Amino acid sequence: MKKILVIPGDGIGTEITESAVEVLKKVDEKFSLGFSYEYKDAGGAAYDKFGTPLPEETLEACRNSDAILFGAVGGQKWDSLDPSLRPEKALLGIRKAMGLYANIRPVKIADALVDYSPLKKELAKGVDLVIVRELVGGIYFGERCESEMVNGVERAWDTENYSVPEVERITKLAFDMAKLRRKKVTSVDKANILATSRLWRRTVNKMAEAEKDLTVDHLYVDNCAMQLAVNPAQFDVIVTGNMFGDILSDEAAVVGGSLGMLPSASIGELTSFYEPIHGSAPDIAGKGIANPMATILSAAMMLRYSFNAEDAAKAIENAVDQTLADGFRTPDLWKDGFTKVNTEEATEKIIERI
Ligand code: NAD
Ligand code: IPM
Ligand code: MN
Repeated sequence: MKKILVIPGDGIGTEITESAVEVLKKVDEKFSLGFSYEYKDAGGAAYDKFGTPLPEETLEACRNSDAILFGAVGGQKWDSLDPSLRPEKALLGIRKAMGLYANIRPVKIADALVDYSPLKKELAKGVDLVIVRELVGGIYFGERCESEMVNGVERAWDTENYSVPEVERITKLAFDMAKLRRKKVTSVDKANILATSRLWRRTVNKMAEAEKDLTVDHLYVDNCAMQLAVNPAQFDVIVTGNMFGDILSDEAAVVGGSLGMLPSASIGELTSFYEPIHGSAPDIAGKGIANPMATILSAAMMLRYSFNAEDAAKAIENAVDQTLADGFRTPDLWKDGFTKVNTEEATEKIIERI
């Protein structure tokens, strides 16, 4: 049996992971993959039960899993907790403990959704890029101070640091990925200001010298944010640090019509981890109307990367495309002339098409 650990988390996390598990069960039935499922808590749900967002038993289950399917964590209810107890700490803790250094966020626009992009149709059509985000370093994990008094004035600070080996391993992964795609890598930084970015750029350039088949260029993050809006089709692989990757991937996601469409895979030292890029969406949680596609597509990435089951991954991706092409839309993507479906109905439509 291949062990999949499911961590639903908070808000819509429980709704969308349930959809993805139903879809996994369907492909297992069809392709005889032999999956078993175990469930553990993290985030606010774990805090409420155990007084910690990341119980040791959840971490232990992560270590013993072949792959992890994660929903989302967070919500207003826990926003005033001490920072060390916030739900988001669970996600950062798992990423760090499992050495999940590379977060792969592919942005591909389904033909049926080109009209939903906030961009003009001709700009959105044909976009096929992947953001490779460094996930266990940078400002997310640097030393910080929540509050201190200096000369009678309160201040707080965060610090960013990156080492050459940290930049090298994420760059290598981005280069390897580009070799299987259109052979173009754009490294994104803020090297006009930040020392970490200058080290990042030097390291990428040094590695690029040995890669005659690849085109490697650089953009400052502010320019990249603008280029994603005016010409997203120019990008193939974008490699960047933790915080820039977080921000740019939400922007890139809506080029495809909705944040509810963008899946991700985090590749690491101990296991691999699959989650939508969006959060727990407190504004729609409990209503049963979340778009489950980002999580279902994350399950497809799991089949591809963790279980080498390309046919099953493709079966899910095609079923999602077909569901959209047949006009079924959750509210985030719905407009006149289409059939509005809730989370459960969208999931059923996808399963019927597998
Ligand atoms: P969010 O991604 O949860 O929501 C942003 C907007 O997108 C909301 O309007 C929401 O309704 C919509 N949306 C997101 N996913 C959707 C889906 N599948 N279908 C339809 N609409 C969807 O971001 P936020 O509101 O800034 O954060 C809410 C909470 O989630 C916070 O506590 C935050 O820290 C947390 N968060 C968690 C993760 C994660 O667990 N990976 C990621 C981002 C944010
Ligand atoms: C994401 C989220 C997380 C991040 C938060 C919830 C810790 O926004 O996965 O994109 O910033 O990495
Ligand atoms: Mn994010």
